[in-house]
Amino acid sequence: MSRTLLTRNGRGAIPLLRGRADALSGVRPVARRLVIDMSYSAHFMDFKASSIPSGMRKLVVSKLSPNFREAVSAQSVAVPTPGDADLLVRNRFAGINASDINYSAGRYDPSVKPPFDTGFEGIGEVVGLGLSASSRYTVGDTVAYFGSGAFAEYTVVPAKESVAVPAAKPEFLTLLVSGATAYIALKRLGDLAKGETVLVTAAAGGTGQFAVQFAKRAGCHVIGTCSSDEKAGFLKTIGCDRPINYTTEDLAKTLRSEYPRGVDVVYESVGGSVLEVAVNSLANKGRLIVIGFISGYQTASGIPAFRGATLPAKLLQKSASIRGFFLPHFISDYKEALGSMMQMLSQGKLVCEVDCGDSSEGGRFVGLESVFRAVDYMYAGKNLGKVVVEVAPTPVSNKL
Ligand SMILES: NC(=O)c1ccc[n+]([C@@H]2O[C@H](COP(=O)([O-])OP(=O)(O)OC[C@H]3O[C@@H](n4cnc5c(N)ncnc54)[C@H](OP(=O)(O)O)[C@@H]3O)[C@@H](O)[C@H]2O)c1
Repeated sequence: MSRTLLTRNGRGAIPLLRGRADALSGVRPVARRLVIDMSYSAHFMDFKASSIPSGMRKLVVSKLSPNFREAVSAQSVAVPTPGDADLLVRNRFAGINASDINYSAGRYDPSVKPPFDTGFEGIGEVVGLGLSASSRYTVGDTVAYFGSGAFAEYTVVPAKESVAVPAAKPEFLTLLVSGATAYIALKRLGDLAKGETVLVTAAAGGTGQFAVQFAKRAGCHVIGTCSSDEKAGFLKTIGCDRPINYTTEDLAKTLRSEYPRGVDVVYESVGGSVLEVAVNSLANKGRLIVIGFISGYQTASGIPAFRGATLPAKLLQKSASIRGFFLPHFISDYKEALGSMMQMLSQGKLVCEVDCGDSSEGGRFVGLESVFRAVDYMYAGKNLGKVVVEVAPTPVSNKL
């Protein structure tokens, strides 16, 4: 496909053949023409001759609190201007993460004071860009990004932190944080071997669904915890050998009776009493990866109670280990992870389950304000798959 856009300054566009070396090795390369944006002094290049509105809505943390509704409010602000190396993205979808409330509570970087933007990941169309950014992107490209400020109608994103994707589909969004966390954590810290047993907690959620699939791909026997029979049924469809609905079965008893040797690896997201059960269920030389501790996030400290006095003894007796994982520390693995997952997705080898709240009480999560409902929905344990909000419901008219 070729495209030629005229620049605003009348000097004309400079079309070049583009061979972008992007992170998504699994994505069909499309021969395209590149337009160098000579209109950088005005910053914006219009999308299909449209204009970008001057105002927009975004969610802002105005008070630190793990109660998302208390901490965050919707504000009307000017649409930001991208800098030389930036893209202006019109967001189509934004992902909800358990840590949205850790972020609103100021737990990520205590030096950052409100007001600040929120939302970790988005996908949408490039509607404006700076000159340097135009060496890799052009108006109309679809990009996904992982960074702050996605709960907004428009977000400025550094071009080098953006990933070109074939379409603004929420499935791609599931890979940026949830998929990447599972992929990298299991690869770097799991040391999975064929035939081993892996326990995944919150297995039917955003990141859990990927941990189940990657552990299965590694030839492991996978156990997954969840809170409903519907989720247990879903887990079976993605290869989980033993879904445990902990609302109807006792997790500790089930693990003791069905896995007396213990489990080799735990991908643990819940914390507190579930972490205790998981530690007690480790096999000799077992590895427990601390992915999160969601059961404590809504409390003032953010950390659930854990009886850890005997932990050193338990680990020593089993030559077991507990390993922490935080995605931003593994950015050097990110490109390979994303490329590999995109390839699996394009080959139909990866399920990226998305939950846009269609069956929730208030219906589908559409529009920025639905982020509040979506966060509540996740914390009520209702989601099956990755929670995603449709920021802009339909392609926005360009004739504003
Ligand atoms: N370390 C990292 O870099 C990293 C990156 C991404 C995510 N994470 C962590 O991964 C975990 C899952 O995050 P996610 O965004 O993918 O969410 P998610 O799994 O899509 O949703 C959270 C799930 O946890 C369970 N849950 C919700 N509230 C709970 C509570 N108060 N107590 C116990 N369980 C609760 C529910 O599943 P059930 O009802 O089925 O149990 C819910 O579906 C979190 O701990 C998060 O912090 C860590």
